[in-house]
Amino acid sequence: MMVKSDICILILVLLTVVESKRYPRRNRNKEKDEAQRDEGEPHCELEVACRGEKNIPITLPIRGAKGPQGKNGQKGEAGEPGSPGIPGREGRSAPPVLRVAFFVGLQKNQGPVTENTDLVFDRVITNVGKVFNQDTGRFTATHNGTYQFNVVVAAQGRQRAAVNLVRNGEMVATIWAESIPYWASASNSAILELKGGDQVWLVLLSRAPYIHGYMYSTFSGHLLFPAKE
Ligand SMILES: *[C@@H]1O[C@H](CO)[C@@H](O)[C@H](O)[C@H]1NC(C)=O
Repeated sequence: MMVKSDICILILVLLTVVESKRYPRRNRNKEKDEAQRDEGEPHCELEVACRGEKNIPITLPIRGAKGPQGKNGQKGEAGEPGSPGIPGREGRSAPPVLRVAFFVGLQKNQGPVTENTDLVFDRVITNVGKVFNQDTGRFTATHNGTYQFNVVVAAQGRQRAAVNLVRNGEMVATIWAESIPYWASASNSAILELKGGDQVWLVLLSRAPYIHGYMYSTFSGHLLFPAKE
């Protein structure tokens, strides 16, 4: 919601803009000042130009100026409103944005199994970076970094279902659900520091092998942040 005083300020700004367009000569001195300022202190300029007769809503996100460039060309971040920009870091280029995320689930019931069995998923909804292999059911880390994984397991009616979350074959967490006597699901999550090439997957346990489909049972993960080099 725009407050009355905001509208007044906006109208003043607009009038000033219109005036300076109509009467450019009056502003000659001002232009001179501006030219001097361009070479001098850092400063900000704002111009709002509107065309058309209808009321046009205007929102102005005002932030501080960007900091000066670092040596390798990295720009500084914008400051909080009214504060100067934070100078760019010197000598380091910005790390690339790493896009890693997957979300898969079971459409069909699975189990029982007589031995612990790697769980494969028949529905892949999200696979950014192609980090999840649908044939093997395994996630492979693309970068050294810290990753988060979430697992939800539901058991079929009057049955048990359990999986282990494993990293390179080593158990990290267990998720166990018993739909006895009522429907149940269980969840767990893990935050893991992985190296590029490390694999994470789920193993269906033969002790509790009746895992429920219909997207009640899902597995997801994403890169939280890359490791420092
Ligand atoms: C990842 O970590 C390993 C071991 O800590 C290291 O040898 C390797 O150079 C790292 N890779 C990258 C791309 O930083």
